[in-house]
Amino acid sequence: RTVRIIGAPVDYGANRRGVDMGPSAIRYAGLSDQLAAADIEPADDGDLFVPRAEERDPDEGSLDHDNAKFVDEVRGACVRLADRVEETLAEDVFPLVLGGDHSISIGTMHGASRDADIGVIWFDAHADLNTPSTSPSGNVHGMPLAAALGYDEFADEDWATAPNVRESSVAYVGLRSVDEREREVIGDSDITAFTMADIDERGITAVVEDALAVATDDTDGLHVSLDLDWLDPSAAPGVGTPVRGGVTYREAHSALETVADHDARHGSFRSMDVVEVNPILDESNETASVATEIVASAFGKRTL
Ligand code: ARG
Ligand code: MN
Ligand code: MN
Ligand code: MN
Repeated sequence: RTVRIIGAPVDYGANRRGVDMGPSAIRYAGLSDQLAAADIEPADDGDLFVPRAEERDPDEGSLDHDNAKFVDEVRGACVRLADRVEETLAEDVFPLVLGGDHSISIGTMHGASRDADIGVIWFDAHADLNTPSTSPSGNVHGMPLAAALGYDEFADEDWATAPNVRESSVAYVGLRSVDEREREVIGDSDITAFTMADIDERGITAVVEDALAVATDDTDGLHVSLDLDWLDPSAAPGVGTPVRGGVTYREAHSALETVADHDARHGSFRSMDVVEVNPILDESNETASVATEIVASAFGKRTL
């Protein structure tokens, strides 16, 4: 298959500068060599244009609430990203989006769902289900799934969020840091949520198989969102919001190998984003390097 790499050097959604260097860090860590090992020759689209945060006022926003920093800048980048993802899919090419913080997933999911009903697997320590009215931080990287589902202020149609993501087609894998309000929303929703405790009890493969069943039931394709803080900070230290007790390096590989196996049988895997790699917080660029290896597993790289 053909894969197009799209860099989205966005840090508007996170509280730490540096995550905008994620696309370079991931390329530098050897993404194309890793993909070659999975028999993929990617085309690299370069990076989307993203204005510098210093030129902007974080509190100026058009949403009906001011607790969402740089929300219009996030929207601008996501509209450009969504167009690029949509064009890529229309050419029958797989969009592999490199963040940037997790707010960019709003754009990836929007673009991926314009002409298709997508299912989503969210590999993350966090639920990212806040809205401007519920967010404790005002950081939009804690809101992308709420935006895709059109919650609260994100129901505003000018915000151009994705109408084709349904709660019943979303599965979390690896949650361990969920805000009070997010916990209530998940409980009242049709979202499927597997926490770290589920992985402890049942093993990563069984959990990911269930997540795949949810996200591919009656959908046209699977979107995988990989937040590097899903891994334990000992394996992926270079993230802005680390949380202890995450998946191991081996579990991460096993999880994405399970995605690749499912894809080999059903042709389900359709788009992916890799987010929250911050090389400033990671002297040896280990997090980006782990990211490239996990991505290769998702595309079917095997030892033998
Ligand atoms: N729940 C917290 C918040 O809303 C943290 C979100 C972290 N999200 C992320 N993509 N790293 O601020
Ligand atoms: Mn204001
Ligand atoms: Mn996270
Ligand atoms: Mn996240």
